[in-house]
Order: sequence, then structure tokens, then C-alpha cells
Amino acid sequence: MQRRRWPATPHVQGIWRRTQSAPDVPGKVAIVTDPVVAGVFSRHSGHEQVVYCYDEPSGLKAIIALYSTALGPGLGGTRFYPYGSEDDALADVLNLSKSMAYKAALAGLDVGGGKAVIIGDPKRDKSEVLLRAYGRFVQSLAGRYITACDVGTYPQDMDVVARECDFVTGRTLSQGGAGDSSVLTALGVYQGMRAAAEAAWGTASLHGRRVGVAGVGKVGRHLVGHLLDDGAAVIVTDVDPAAVTAVTLQYPEVEVAAGADELVASDLDVYAPCALGGALSDEVVEVLTAQVVCGAANNQLGHDGIEKTLADRGIVYAPDYCVNSGGLIQVADELAGFSFDRAKARASAIYDTTRNVLAAAAAEGVPPSVAADRMAERRMAAVGRLRSVWLPR
Ligand SMILES: NC(=O)c1ccc[n+]([C@@H]2O[C@H](COP(=O)([O-])OP(=O)(O)OC[C@H]3O[C@@H](n4cnc5c(N)ncnc54)[C@H](O)[C@@H]3O)[C@@H](O)[C@H]2O)c1
Repeated sequence: MQRRRWPATPHVQGIWRRTQSAPDVPGKVAIVTDPVVAGVFSRHSGHEQVVYCYDEPSGLKAIIALYSTALGPGLGGTRFYPYGSEDDALADVLNLSKSMAYKAALAGLDVGGGKAVIIGDPKRDKSEVLLRAYGRFVQSLAGRYITACDVGTYPQDMDVVARECDFVTGRTLSQGGAGDSSVLTALGVYQGMRAAAEAAWGTASLHGRRVGVAGVGKVGRHLVGHLLDDGAAVIVTDVDPAAVTAVTLQYPEVEVAAGADELVASDLDVYAPCALGGALSDEVVEVLTAQVVCGAANNQLGHDGIEKTLADRGIVYAPDYCVNSGGLIQVADELAGFSFDRAKARASAIYDTTRNVLAAAAAEGVPPSVAADRMAERRMAAVGRLRSVWLPR
């Protein structure tokens, strides 16, 4: 990522109090907050802007992170999740927004990387007032951040946010939005999986393969449908019994594993993590029998270096942000007046993108995640640089 610049200022709305000289840049002034926000600068995460949004009466506690706007406004969903701590929420939004920047760049989109988290239990804490309060904070960024759905938020929620805000995608069809993005996310993951299958076995098909899907929520369930259509045997697991019931009612032929541990240790050709991040831990990679890993979840690699362990074990890892960009492609398409056919064609091209990434990885002798990062960084730098060509308004 080339476009690092001072200040990468966490803009703490509502509670900024004093300024002082920036410690490591003589003559520059940084906004320092009181109470101090733990660890935003010290993480050296490369983010452009981190915004804390607090509205006590509605219970809103949100963090919006913009990693890069080199290619355009930061576009990414709002995750509503009962984080164990504010630090967990911050770590998640920083990771997710960085992934969005790389995802958009690799998908060839003209948007940057942004993401938001709302701290709370969506089943208990979500309300009209909270969502509208959140919408006003998004509006205050004047289009630098454009929001969408993520875990815990739905198109109906985006309709509510949009009552206070112009920068909202993922709205319902009746409100002019593109609706549920999980349809094209699942299509893209399936296309990426075909490319990974081709790299592993020489045929771009899952026919006759045994695929384990961990997490059969919005994306996982659609993915199961594509896999069965292609002739794969599918085994699923989910911590929510209702999600398992829904998928087995729709597809009675799928098998069910007792849990994610049982699933990864079972006899699989492909493992598809479709729940939350960090699915590829040392323990999982050690027991994994699958030769291909390809799923929808963001930030699957549990820690730096695990991508090399996967490669050393001969496992083809299709990078998460490469294969799960179908939803982003869909919401980005909304910005141009939504066409499902255009977005579907673009999501289908994830097959080609994944092929290119895997080919580059082989040619450069690096794990696929490293090859994908390089491709995304090159595009952010090369296309982002064009902004230096001044245009008359
Ligand atoms: N929806 C999209 O368009 C989209 C786009 C890109 C990436 N993603 C990512 O894909 C993943 C799934 O998204 P979704 O929209 O289907 O979310 P979802 O909330 O609808 O589904 C996630 C499912 O995972 C289950 N789950 C949670 N923890 C689990 C665990 N430890 N083991 C097994 N199951 C578990 C949940 O019960 C739920 O059914 C998320 O990581 C999301 O960030 C989604």
C-alpha cells in the first residue's frame, strides 16, 4: 500500500478535547483525544481515518474505519456484533476495512476500503433511533464512507439508515437498492472455488468432490445450492441450529457435522469457511484433510505466516477477499444504477481473477494471499497515482 500519509488521525466525534505536536513528525499537529483511544496509532495499521460514533440515548457505539480512498470512497458494510470489548471491535473494523480496500482493488472497482462496526447484540439493541443516529454519523463523512450490510445488518436496516444519510447501498429492492448481496457473494465464492479446483485437480468443477461448509447463514446456504448443482457432496455445520434446519429443509441431501472441529477433521476435498474470521488457525490447518480452502468469511487467515503453512502442506488457498467480492461488486454496482445482470457477469469473473492470482502465486513462488496482496497494492498505487493529474472542475 503506497499511499501512507500523515495524519492518520482518529477523528473522535463528540469527545475531542485538546491538541499537541505530533510526537514523531516535527512541526505537524495531531488531534489527541481524552480519554485516549487505546492503540489506534500504535498499531501502525496504515489507516487514513478512524471515526468513533457515540450517541448515548440510543445506545449507539460505532467505529468507522477508512483504510484507503486511493481508488474512491471507502465502501463496505456495517457489522452489528456483540464484541467482548471495544478493543476487539477496533481490531475487527481495522482488519475488515483493510480487506475491503484490497478486495475492491483486486476486483477492479473504483472504490476504496471502508468498514463499520456497531457494538451490541443486533437482536436486542437494534432500533430505529440507533440506526438513524448511525446514519447521521455516516452522513457527516460527506461521502468518504459509503455503507452497506454485513453480519447482523440487513437491507431493511439500510433503508432506515438512509432516512438520515445519502451514502447507503444494500437497500431493499422497493427502496431502489440491490437487496441481499449474499446471492452474488455465494456465486463469486463458487466461481473462485472452481478456479481453485482447477489448480488442485486440473478440472474447474466440484463434481464428485466432498465440500465442507462451516456457517450456513446468508452466503453459506446459497453456496450449498451451487455446490449441489455442480454435483458435489456437501457437509455443513453451524452454531445456530435454526440455520442448520433451514439448509437441511431446503437441501435434504446435505450431511451435518456436529461442529466446526468435527467438520475440518472429516474427510474433505474442499473446506469453505463461511462464518466469521480467523477460521484458519494452526490447529485447523494441522488436521485439515481438504486440498482446497475457499470460503466467504473475511480475514480467514488466523495469523501472519499461516498462509505459508497452508502452501507447505500443499493446500490451495483461494484468498478470502478475492473470492468473496461478489457482494461488494453488487453494492458498488448500485452506485451506477443497479443492473443485476451486469453485477452477475462481474461476479462470475471472480473465476478469472482467482485463476490469475493462483497463476501469479505459482510464477512468483509465493502463497496466493501474497500474490493477491501484490496485485491489489499495484492497482491502488498505479490508479491512485492518477489523482495527481489535475483536472479542471
Ligand atoms: N453477505 C455478504 O454478501 C458477504 C460478503 C462478503 C463476505 N461475507 C462474509 O461471509 C461470512 C458469512 O456472511 P453471511 O452474510 O452469510 O453471515 P450470516 O450471519 O448470515 O451467516 C454466518 C453464519 O455463521 C454461523 N456461525 C457463526 N460462528 C460459527 C462457528 N464458529 N461455526 C459455525 N458456524 C458459525 C452463524 O450462526 C450464521 O448462521 C462473514 O464472515 C461475512 O463477513 C459476507
